[in-house]
Amino acid sequence: MWRPKQRIRHEVKAGPWPGEDEARNSVLFSGFESRRLKLNSRSWVPAMVPWRASEDGFVTQDILDWYERFAEGRPGALVVEATGIRDVPSGPLLRIGHDRFLPGLRRLVDVVRRASGGETKLFIQLIDFLSIKRRPRREDYFNRFLHITDDHREKLKLPDEDIRARLLTLEDEALEGILSARELEALQRGLRERVTDTHLAHIADLPRQLPPLFAQAAKRAEQAGFDGVELHYAHAYTMASFLSALNTRADGYGGSLENRVRLPLEVFEAVRQQVSDGFVVGCRMLSEDCIADGSSVDDACYFAQCFADTGMDFISLSRGGKFEDAAQPKVGEAIYPYTGPSGYECMPSYISDEFGPFERNREPTARIKSMVGKTPVILAGGIHDFQQAEDILQKGDADIIAFARQALADPDWFQKVRRGEGDKIRVCRYTNYCEALDQKHKQVTCELWDREALDEPGVKLSKDGKRRLIAPR
Ligand SMILES: Cc1cc2nc3c(=O)[nH]c(=O)nc-3n(C[C@H](O)[C@H](O)[C@H](O)COP(=O)(O)O)c2cc1C
Ligand code: SF4
Repeated sequence: MWRPKQRIRHEVKAGPWPGEDEARNSVLFSGFESRRLKLNSRSWVPAMVPWRASEDGFVTQDILDWYERFAEGRPGALVVEATGIRDVPSGPLLRIGHDRFLPGLRRLVDVVRRASGGETKLFIQLIDFLSIKRRPRREDYFNRFLHITDDHREKLKLPDEDIRARLLTLEDEALEGILSARELEALQRGLRERVTDTHLAHIADLPRQLPPLFAQAAKRAEQAGFDGVELHYAHAYTMASFLSALNTRADGYGGSLENRVRLPLEVFEAVRQQVSDGFVVGCRMLSEDCIADGSSVDDACYFAQCFADTGMDFISLSRGGKFEDAAQPKVGEAIYPYTGPSGYECMPSYISDEFGPFERNREPTARIKSMVGKTPVILAGGIHDFQQAEDILQKGDADIIAFARQALADPDWFQKVRRGEGDKIRVCRYTNYCEALDQKHKQVTCELWDREALDEPGVKLSKDGKRRLIAPR
């Protein structure tokens, strides 16, 4: 994982923790109500993929156990991991692109309702993503994948059958003068589709395809009993790529801010039409792309204002997490969007710069919040402490606080703080051990508890048999 060059080690400080009375009277644990969004506290566990769905995208017992454990902590809201809206094989990513996924999703809703005593609102994050190929072996790329063009013929002045053999002998530096930038990228990082590849019919057609796909997925979420959906407009995926300043599509869906926000608004409208009036529909978006020539905080202010004006029920803010600056993957592996500087902004670790890993998203979020009127804004990134959360809420920099890794480190954070037992909390150290597991698509656990009491009755272990899958109770 990428780290800032300063390599300053930041100690995670937490406490003093509040007593029961102070917690009860805090802003964090006060109820929240804004149009459709009604929460019993201003706490939120954002989406985290744990890699526990079946190979064909169904809810498994491990998924039920994972969300049950978070629900026991009774946060105000829990967002189920990024869930694919298309009915296409997507590896062990949870899916909602067909009615056959409904029974599993219904069980998931039931488990969360029971474990949280009905206190936690349950949302599901809906995602679309474009195709990415693994980084190929050089011989496979030149012998099989590369399409020989007139440009190659012109530059090499060789018959077609010799061009592939010749390219295979060249170093990357020499290839730079022969291959196009996209061909070189396909060789060095794996072929990755972009929303700007409008010469491909299925990419040109995304503005027609996506609104009904998101709408049908949201309808299924409502049928399964969820309280609402979070449209995934963040990080490296399709909808965030439409919003990005790198989107230069010339069909009315790229270029200017108005055009870049057009499809996200059309998706929202299509979703709203398919669900009932009380069903919550919000989005997760970026406060900043954090890449060269990407969208800025000003752009995000504009998008958030459009989303607020159109009636989104919440705006959850993340930052970065892009493919453009991600590390080169190893041969046979796919590029992972959290391995470069923008990935660091998304999930900052304790080895950091002067600013450190905490609240990197606070100031941009506060700016965006000031533009969206009453639409609730959720802030994530390095928040683990009661006083820290309370300060953000009291100053009005956000309406709701998201705890991702801290909730993974201790799903009981919310209950412990409420009961005045903050000193019993396992505080996240921001080591990103969990995120490294995510990168390898291994079952995500936290190093603070995954080797603890492995012989306890009923403890389920990871595929390698070394780690427990959920936090001790
Ligand atoms: C293992 C793991 C999986 C994640 N999966 C998702 C995801 O599915 N969707 C999403 O929007 N963010 C995802 N995130 C990002 C988190 O929701 C959150 O924005 C980020 O970790 C920063 O918050 P934190 O400092 O409280 O952890 C993931 C983070 C982790 C650690
Ligand atoms: S492994 Fe645990 S301590 Fe480390 S960052 Fe993840 S949640 Fe925090």
